[in-house]
Amino acid sequence: MSIARTPSQRETPYLDAIRDYAARSPARLHIPGHKGGPGADPALVRVIGADALSHDIPALTWGIDIGSSPTPFERAQQLAAEAWGARRTWFLVNGASQGNIAAGMALAHRGDRVVLQRNGHSSTIDALVLSGMRPTFVAPEIDEELGIAHCLIPETLDRALARTPGAVGAWIVSPTYFGAAADVRALAEVAHAHGVPLIVDEAWGAHLHFGDELPEDALSAGADLVISSTHKIVGSLTQSAMLHLGGGGLLDEDVVDRTVTLTESTSPNSLLFASLDAARRLAATEGRELIAETTRAVDRARAEIRAIPGLDVLDERFIGRGGVAGYDPLRLAVDVRGLAIDGYELARRLRERADIHLELAGQNVVVGVFGMGGVATPLAERFVEALRAVAGEAGAAEPGSSVRFAPAPPWGELVLTPREAFLGAQEVVAADEAVGRVAAESLATYPPGIPNVLPGERLTAETLAYIRGTLELGGSLRGASDRLLSTIRVVSGA
Ligand SMILES: Cc1ncc(COP(=O)(O)O)c(C=O)c1O
Repeated sequence: MSIARTPSQRETPYLDAIRDYAARSPARLHIPGHKGGPGADPALVRVIGADALSHDIPALTWGIDIGSSPTPFERAQQLAAEAWGARRTWFLVNGASQGNIAAGMALAHRGDRVVLQRNGHSSTIDALVLSGMRPTFVAPEIDEELGIAHCLIPETLDRALARTPGAVGAWIVSPTYFGAAADVRALAEVAHAHGVPLIVDEAWGAHLHFGDELPEDALSAGADLVISSTHKIVGSLTQSAMLHLGGGGLLDEDVVDRTVTLTESTSPNSLLFASLDAARRLAATEGRELIAETTRAVDRARAEIRAIPGLDVLDERFIGRGGVAGYDPLRLAVDVRGLAIDGYELARRLRERADIHLELAGQNVVVGVFGMGGVATPLAERFVEALRAVAGEAGAAEPGSSVRFAPAPPWGELVLTPREAFLGAQEVVAADEAVGRVAAESLATYPPGIPNVLPGERLTAETLAYIRGTLELGGSLRGASDRLLSTIRVVSGA
């Protein structure tokens, strides 16, 4: 996890270029129509500020992203590649979702079979719909006690690749929403032994490269393509992200470049790009200290939460459980099973009583996310104080009262590719009549959030009964057009 500390990491070429452009008061005979601010509604000017509007400059502006090479835009991406240790880095303006879709389209240039972690983000399924690839899904390790999914283990990936002749890639997620990190190094070795690139959705781990004592970042561990949601923790603006190409040579740089262009607006927002340039500088030059400071604040909070009756936390004690090779200390995941209320109710009370908004609430675990820098100590203290009050008022769970969700039945046979199911003629049928039909939508019960059904899979009686049972126990259903499961969208005639 080495950090590039060359003087150039202190520079922000793209940010400087848009600042210089705005400072010159140029004649803006180009889009956007607000003309750097004067044409904008005054309420917008008050909310986002005149400065933000004057730096909203379109693509293909001379001296910013066109002109003599390397342009400030090219240099900014080169600096990001250096900082993260990538062969090449692309700035993205449609989030890590764009990164997943671009990755899928790039993989599809190599063939149409791919091995995929079952609980990938919805944008990976979108990538299958758009690319037409036929997936072999692989189950992550399940923490039955907490009812959450962790990461994939190398043995499972190895078996899945062995039963998928012609696979052109392996696609995993690490870290998870809950902060568990996979043994990416071992997973990369498995993928490479099968001759395929490892794609890592590291949306939650853009900071990992810059901290001491954090799980190893995916690029350093040998991943070939890494999707990074820079905005989530490293501090760029919402919607900005990066795609990093590793040094392995299994993926063609020009192909990835085409698929990034394919998935991007022709009018990317300069504020998003500038925020990536600035976030990279902050991470490369001060990331280590900022992460250490935030980690100390979150560690203190974890210790205080563990002392609150009825609460526990997920921390490094989890390392070594199935699918957990490392733990990200910037995630504050609280185990609420000892309380008389569940995680959803706890989150509601925190919101209503203390205006505290969590990243994730599940049945057994709620998660608060901290940024690389910022105001970790007061934020953590406010959270702990509110948790203490809400937990005290809720009281302890009756011994043996915690709800146990049974393991899900195996997912149904993949009859059509996700693309065929998504684009084919569809109809909505009563859930009772859906057994044997082919799903046109995803159904994922929480806990633990692993899709039970994906587009193209045959619906089975066991799976539908399981989903109903989970809803009756207080779980929830995501991805479905009818979240109560009275109806399901299926493929017509299949
Ligand atoms: C694992 C994972 N991948 C990708 C994404 C998509 O990221 P973005 O919201 O930046 O598009 C998310 C979003 O939460 C995610 O959790």
